[in-house]
Amino acid sequence: MIVPQALRFLPTLLLSLVAAFGNAAPAAAETIAVIGTGDVGGALGPRLASLGHTVVYGSREPQRTDVEALVRETGPGASAAELAEAAAGAHWVLLAVPWTSVEEVVASLGDLGGKIVIDPTNPRIQAEDGFPDHPFHTSNAERIQTWAPDARVVKAFNAMPAEIMADPDLAGGPITVPIAGDDEAARAAVAALARTLGFQTVEIGPVRYAHVIESLYLLSVNAAILGNPVYMSLRPRPPAP
Ligand SMILES: NC(=O)c1ccc[n+]([C@@H]2O[C@H](COP(=O)([O-])OP(=O)(O)OC[C@H]3O[C@@H](n4cnc5c(N)ncnc54)[C@H](OP(=O)(O)O)[C@@H]3O)[C@@H](O)[C@H]2O)c1
Repeated sequence: MIVPQALRFLPTLLLSLVAAFGNAAPAAAETIAVIGTGDVGGALGPRLASLGHTVVYGSREPQRTDVEALVRETGPGASAAELAEAAAGAHWVLLAVPWTSVEEVVASLGDLGGKIVIDPTNPRIQAEDGFPDHPFHTSNAERIQTWAPDARVVKAFNAMPAEIMADPDLAGGPITVPIAGDDEAARAAVAALARTLGFQTVEIGPVRYAHVIESLYLLSVNAAILGNPVYMSLRPRPPAP
C-alpha cells in the first residue's frame, strides 16, 4: 500500500504531541468508585468519566432521582450502587463524603486492601470567634489509613472548591493539588490523574503530612472570611541558574 508522504510522519507527530502534552493525556482507564453524590462527587465523577474511566457512584440511595440524573449526566458507562458494591469492583475509591461520616463510610466499604483511596475531606469545627478550627492534631487521611490499613490512602483535591474541580478554567490560572500518602506509587498515580484533570500537583510525602494539606482549607476559608478569597496555586521554582 502506498502511504501518502504527509501521513508517513503521522505516528512520529503523534508521539511528539504526547511527549509535549503528556500531562494532558488520559491515564489508563480505571474503575473509580466515587462515594457520595454531592458537590464533590458531582463535580469529579463526570470529569473522570470524560477521561475514559468507568465511574460507579457509591450512594446510600442509588435509586434516588438525583443520583440517577447524575449517572445519566456522567455518561453511558456510569452506574450507581450501594457503598460496598461500588467499592468492590473499583481500583480507586474517592471519599466524597462529609468528614464526620468517613469512619462509618470506610467501615461500610468492605475490604479496601490494595485500592487507591483518595481523601478530599476537610475536617473542621466552628470556633467561637467564627473561624473554623481543625478538630484534631493528626488528619482525616491518617485516620482513614488507620481504619483501612491495607488501603493506599492519598490526600488530594481538598484544597479547591467543587466548582473548580468541575471546571479548572474558572480559576483564571493554575490550581495546585497538594498530595500526601504513604504509598509512593499511589501518590504518583493520583498526581498523574490530577494533571489529566487540568491541575498542577505537588507531592509532599507520607500521609503524616496530610495535616499540612488539610490546613490549607483553613487558610482559604479564613482568607475568604476576611474578604480576601484565594485559590491554591504553588509556582514551581525554576532551576538555579
Ligand atoms: N464542596 C466543596 O467545595 C469541597 C471542596 C473540597 C473538599 N470538600 C470535601 O469533600 C467532601 C464532600 O463534600 P461535598 O461538598 O461533596 O459534600 P455534600 O455536597 O454534602 O455531599 C456529600 C455526599 O456524601 C454522601 N453522604 C452524606 N452523608 C453521608 C453519610 N452519613 N454516610 C454516607 N454518605 C453520606 C451523600 O451522598 P448520597 O446521599 O448519595 O449517599 C452526599 O451527597 C467533604 O468532606 C468536604 O469537606 C468539599
